[in-house]
Amino acid sequence: MTSRHALNDRLRELGPRRATAVANNKGGTGKTTTAVNVAAIAAAMGHSTLLVDLDDQGSATKWLGHSPNNTDLVHVFRDDRPLDEVVVPTAIERLELVRASAELADADRQFGAEAGVQHALLSALEHAAARDWVVIDCPGDLGLLTIMGLAAADDVLIPLAAGAMELEELPKLITLIDKVRRRLNPALHVSGVLPCRVTVYGKNTSRVAADVLDTLRQHFPSELLTTVIHESTRHGEAFSAQQPISWYEPGGTGDREYRAAVAELLLERGAVAVHA
Ligand SMILES: Nc1ncnc2c1ncn2[C@@H]1O[C@H](COP(=O)(O)OP(=O)(O)OP(=O)(O)O)[C@@H](O)[C@H]1O
Ligand SMILES: [Mg+2]
Repeated sequence: MTSRHALNDRLRELGPRRATAVANNKGGTGKTTTAVNVAAIAAAMGHSTLLVDLDDQGSATKWLGHSPNNTDLVHVFRDDRPLDEVVVPTAIERLELVRASAELADADRQFGAEAGVQHALLSALEHAAARDWVVIDCPGDLGLLTIMGLAAADDVLIPLAAGAMELEELPKLITLIDKVRRRLNPALHVSGVLPCRVTVYGKNTSRVAADVLDTLRQHFPSELLTTVIHESTRHGEAFSAQQPISWYEPGGTGDREYRAAVAELLLERGAVAVHA
């Protein structure tokens, strides 16, 4: 009989099992908060997890107690430096990090004309040690780095702050995902739309947030996660404390909500069956 461990070893030999790009061109929608918390919870559940910080602002890197460096990812993308050489451990068991590189701010100009650069992250991951789950924190635009993240991913998780302005921007991201699917990565799919920063008045979800959720339900009937992440000052506090929300406030609302989101994402690929 194949044991769970043997099955996991076999999956590791087969290469990275899942790569999820956390993307939304609108700034401040909860991408980094989602990427860090999803990756940390996945690691705590037993999945070997690698968080790749593609945003030169380096918020995910700082959240996990590291400092962005100048060039790690630039060397990986421009000079084919092995990704494993720039992977660093974090305080969380089984969670590793590729730190943001400040020089990525200029990525389009620096190496946008390099042959095959849109596939550089995919190629780097294919040549790296296998992990169960690679979570890619994309910057808040639709430039080269987001395209590289989408090209390297099996699926896209879209955190969406539940406001009317955020909805207006969404079609641009969906158009880019379609284009990447047609031209670069036919298997790419949206694994989840995660409403974030949902405000509550009294016992009810605020009127604007409720309208946004209704609209999302119509447009993404199967992709909209049932979990929503409510607005909470705890998330900012957790960043300052350099701890994912599940470590900062175990059992709190943010912890419970992000755990529920991870459970939905794992079910989407049947991964829970391996680790349950
Ligand atoms: N559920 C939440 N409740 C309250 N504040 C939140 C929540 N999620 C994120 N925030 C706060 O909103 C701000 C933006 O969040 P975050 O950095 O995760 O977004 P982002 O989409 O990664 O932004 P950017 O596009 O700049 O990379 C941060 O100050 C963060 O602490
Ligand atoms: Mg971010």
